[in-house]
Amino acid sequence: MSLFKKSGAHQWRGVIKEYEKRLPVSSKTPIVTLNEGGTPLIYACVLSEMLGNDVWLKFEGANPTGSFKDRGMTMAISKAAEDGAKAVICASTGNTSASAAAYATKAGMVPVVLVPQGKIAMGKLAQAIAHGAKLLQVKGNFDDCLTLAKQLSEQYPVSLVNSVNPYRIEGQKTASFEVIDALGFAPDIHVMPVGNAGNITAYWKGYKEYYADRISKSLPAMWGFQAKGAAPIVRGKIVKNPETLATAIRIGNPASWKQAEQARDESKGLIDMVSDAEILSAYRLVAAKEGVFVEPSSAAGLAGLIKYKAAKKLPKGKKIVITVTGNGLKDIQWILNGADKPITVPVDVKKAAKVIGLS
Ligand code: F0G
Repeated sequence: MSLFKKSGAHQWRGVIKEYEKRLPVSSKTPIVTLNEGGTPLIYACVLSEMLGNDVWLKFEGANPTGSFKDRGMTMAISKAAEDGAKAVICASTGNTSASAAAYATKAGMVPVVLVPQGKIAMGKLAQAIAHGAKLLQVKGNFDDCLTLAKQLSEQYPVSLVNSVNPYRIEGQKTASFEVIDALGFAPDIHVMPVGNAGNITAYWKGYKEYYADRISKSLPAMWGFQAKGAAPIVRGKIVKNPETLATAIRIGNPASWKQAEQARDESKGLIDMVSDAEILSAYRLVAAKEGVFVEPSSAAGLAGLIKYKAAKKLPKGKKIVITVTGNGLKDIQWILNGADKPITVPVDVKKAAKVIGLS
């Protein structure tokens, strides 16, 4: 405690406290927080050069449970606590469940999480278990999990904390505030992956609110990228059996479909798709060249920009922010697969130097 009492010491207080006036909370709301938000906005030198634009990465993997979901979860769980909820439920491709489990535990509630069997990354599964969630693996995909979670919340005393819960969107919009607060202006283009489509909806809401209050002078074009095998918005129809290695965005019928289209159209942006190979290559590149380790789904936005650059469809000289949504440590197999085996050496300086190439 005494550490924080030193004069001038300050810790980021979490998105509700930092943006209290812009969120639907009152003095009666018990704030449940893990001090989420305040994530780094990193200037990406290599990507800027490569893409011919000024590019920043909004690194959401630096949140307490390792993804952007914590921004919405602090709001959803705080409001559930205000309503006296004892248990919360969500469907998830992994990150929402990890976040819900952590925040519900912090609030003394029981977290119930429904995930598609065999289709979530091990790190995320471990998080739900670590935080003591009631974990149900559903024989179906994310869309089936969401249907089941909705039914359970309608028929039993358990609150739904998926992004159909409007408080989730409210919390997640704070990421746009942070971008503008850090840059001093809104970017020309904001790029991100799209799965259930809550995040693009939330960012657009945040940008519009700052613009309406004249904190920023312009609005960005919202660019979203889905995975080719799970691209219902791009294809204009529900994908019954979505398939992609980017399991976080393996979704065939997004809950915020209409709102995402609205964000795209109002902002004069676009929603397009990228292949798994393009996602993997962007995922490796951002780690290897920028020092930012993200999970595969999180690289969909960058993959989209690289694809547009190659097709000569990317403007030049713009200010572009890419949200990289989740931490690479959650889903490590895609780096380890195909990597060279680590070299084993004895405790011998000459031999070690030789292997390193120093002698
Ligand atoms: N990136 C990551 C790492 C995600 O976990 C998600 C969604 C998205 C992008 C897409 O965001 O759904 O708001 O369009 N994950 C949800 C989950 C579905 O259950 O964790 P979205």
